[in-house]
Amino acid sequence: MGSGGRYHPAHMVRGLGRVLIDRERIASRVREMGLQLSSELEAELARDGADPSNHADRIVLLPILAGALVFTADLIREMPLRLSMRMVTVSSYAGQATTSRGAAFRGALPQDLGGRHVVVIDDILDSGQTLALVKGLVLQQNPASLRLCVLLDKQVARKADIHANLVGFQIPDEFVVGYGLDYDGYYRNLPEIRVLEVG
Ligand code: IMP
Ligand code: MG
Repeated sequence: MGSGGRYHPAHMVRGLGRVLIDRERIASRVREMGLQLSSELEAELARDGADPSNHADRIVLLPILAGALVFTADLIREMPLRLSMRMVTVSSYAGQATTSRGAAFRGALPQDLGGRHVVVIDDILDSGQTLALVKGLVLQQNPASLRLCVLLDKQVARKADIHANLVGFQIPDEFVVGYGLDYDGYYRNLPEIRVLEVG
């Protein structure tokens, strides 16, 4: 194993294409994003002028599972703020599909977002249907503010009128896996983002 590299057993990477974003680039961008989000949220709290002892209840991060799991785990450790977390599970790609078939909630939905500064976090913005669904849920509850934060923004025509407030990387229209993103449930544990080789 080379010093900068990482060993992958052959069975784990077979069928995968080139590395699009390596782990060092991901880590440094995630650090920047965490700091930027934190300073924006600090500014929201300052505008609220609320008692700082109440700030624990003011900021809620809402990752969309399962894709945002790895990104969120790294992002929150770059955010030196008192914050709480809720989670929402949305599915869009059924099984071995690589095009979105619309988004639907699975399981319980958070109900306590009203009056709070909410940051929705997802791995990737593709057709936009997933973020549009979650944004609608949050807005119904009248949050104090809402931000949409994604690691990746795929350059495709959206099916929903939506844009992210904070984006890690713009990527071309290719199906990617790793760092939380899956194909048919696999590859979420790759530390870098790779293109999936089809055919
Ligand atoms: P959208 O609803 O089409 O914007 O799709 C967003 C969801 O689809 C993301 O939360 C991902 O889980 C999944 N997705 C979209 N593009 C990719 C990809 O290239 N690789 C893996 N998952 C993807
Ligand atoms: Mg997802």
